[in-house]
Amino acid sequence: MLAVFAVDVAAGKGTEARPVLLTLSRDLADAAERLLGPGEFKAGLGETAILHLPVGSSADRLLVVGLGKAKDFSLDRIRKGAGTAVRAAKARAVRELAIAFPERSAVQAVSLAELSTRLTTRAMVEGAELAELDWDTYRSDRKDSSLHCLTLIAKQSGAEMQQEAQAGFDEGLIVAAAQNFTRALVNEPGNVLTPTELGQRAKAMCKQAGLGCEVSSSAKIQELKMEAFWSVAKGSEEPPALIVMTYEPAGGVTEGAPVLGLVGKGITFDTGGISIKPADGMEKMKYDMAGAAAMIGAMHAIARLKPAVKVVAVVCSAENMPDGRAMKPGDVVTAMSGTTIEIVNTDAEGRLVLADGLHYAKTLGATHLIDAATLTGACVVALGTLNAGLFSNDEPTCARFESALEVSGEGFWRLPCTDDYRERITSEIADIMNTGKNRWGGAISAAMFLKEFAGDTPWVHLDIAGCAWNEEKKPWIAYGPSGVAVRSILEWVRAYSA
Ligand code: BES
Ligand code: MN
Ligand code: ZN
Repeated sequence: MLAVFAVDVAAGKGTEARPVLLTLSRDLADAAERLLGPGEFKAGLGETAILHLPVGSSADRLLVVGLGKAKDFSLDRIRKGAGTAVRAAKARAVRELAIAFPERSAVQAVSLAELSTRLTTRAMVEGAELAELDWDTYRSDRKDSSLHCLTLIAKQSGAEMQQEAQAGFDEGLIVAAAQNFTRALVNEPGNVLTPTELGQRAKAMCKQAGLGCEVSSSAKIQELKMEAFWSVAKGSEEPPALIVMTYEPAGGVTEGAPVLGLVGKGITFDTGGISIKPADGMEKMKYDMAGAAAMIGAMHAIARLKPAVKVVAVVCSAENMPDGRAMKPGDVVTAMSGTTIEIVNTDAEGRLVLADGLHYAKTLGATHLIDAATLTGACVVALGTLNAGLFSNDEPTCARFESALEVSGEGFWRLPCTDDYRERITSEIADIMNTGKNRWGGAISAAMFLKEFAGDTPWVHLDIAGCAWNEEKKPWIAYGPSGVAVRSILEWVRAYSA
């Protein structure tokens, strides 16, 4: 099957769609001519149509894939278009798929955004690889519908373009493999993926990728005086895992060069603890380790893309359970940093483990911090599921993250965490408390709590509670774990490459 993209060049509201193929091939244009007539195919994002080609054509079938309005043409649309092509092929048991590289010059009516060959190719490969996965490992009726072969076809236009395309292709495979690794971790149920198991999977990945990795548990956490982390962990029979992964560039690290600290929330199941959650929807809380999984996936790609910057990742993994030994509302604990915390709600456990994770990353030499966490329901209320929350205490560091979004195509929306919010978390009895004074601005209260532990170190906080799990399947991606943040974190890290 050969897939070709189409965009809708019609402008203005209420006008009929005017689909145009993004190819200069006369044969393909002829084959699709009647399909593109009024009304039948609108080239909406994720819309597909299949045409059987005459016997003797180089492909049996032509798949036309809509990318939406021409004005919205972007890397992300191409990523989704390639994903749509793969999922349409899989649904029809097609094993060999070729996707035609989009040709901008095929559209004359409007001017399409100009995108580099490298990034276009990369987006196509990413979209295709992400679309390939379905979460059927636990289903006994699963069928193998994997593609055997994916080819990207572009008009030959010189060695330079060929090289650019190949570079983008190779990079796309690395990035998508990392994101798919993250998704596979997030998909695992809590009984399979305990903190210990997460530690083992991180360790195995690091060994294979050539990264340093230390996994420790209760004794080390107490020895380091990580009482915030420990207070969450101690309510479970499952031992916690403190996972530290290290990447050092081949050229060594020069004095004064940045060291990036990646910190992930790895709650393998969040019952809420003594402040227990309602039963309805609690099964979703197996994905409360998506921030940790994003960091582990990002490290996988970092090991393969080899940026010239040192990266240390700290994952704090535990189960949040109610138990005779569990932390209780009203308890006061001292974090590794020395800050005292009044635990008002045991369901605000993510910020507790991250408090010690952020501080520990600094003691390991991190000069810039980024954390990812499924931290608050309030962030989902504020932003929904299309954008995740972005917070920062430093403009240049945040700007670097926002530029990374242009390549990653992921949606992050900045929310404030200015010092005037600090009084929200001031406790009557300790330095701070682990919830805000009331529910208002809950995502900000959580960010303010973390900011306390980032201190003067430039820091970016990603609240991915609403984006880590796709509740609906889309034409370009399966229901379930999204692997959000991996691509953006990766581009942010690469921006520091000397
Ligand atoms: N893991 C949850 C946040 C969450 C909610 C993730 C929905 C994914 C989807 C977090 O640990 C939590 O329970 N947060 C509380 C904080 C509150 C007690 C201050 C919340 O958001 O309700
Ligand atoms: Mn919780
Ligand atoms: Zn949680």
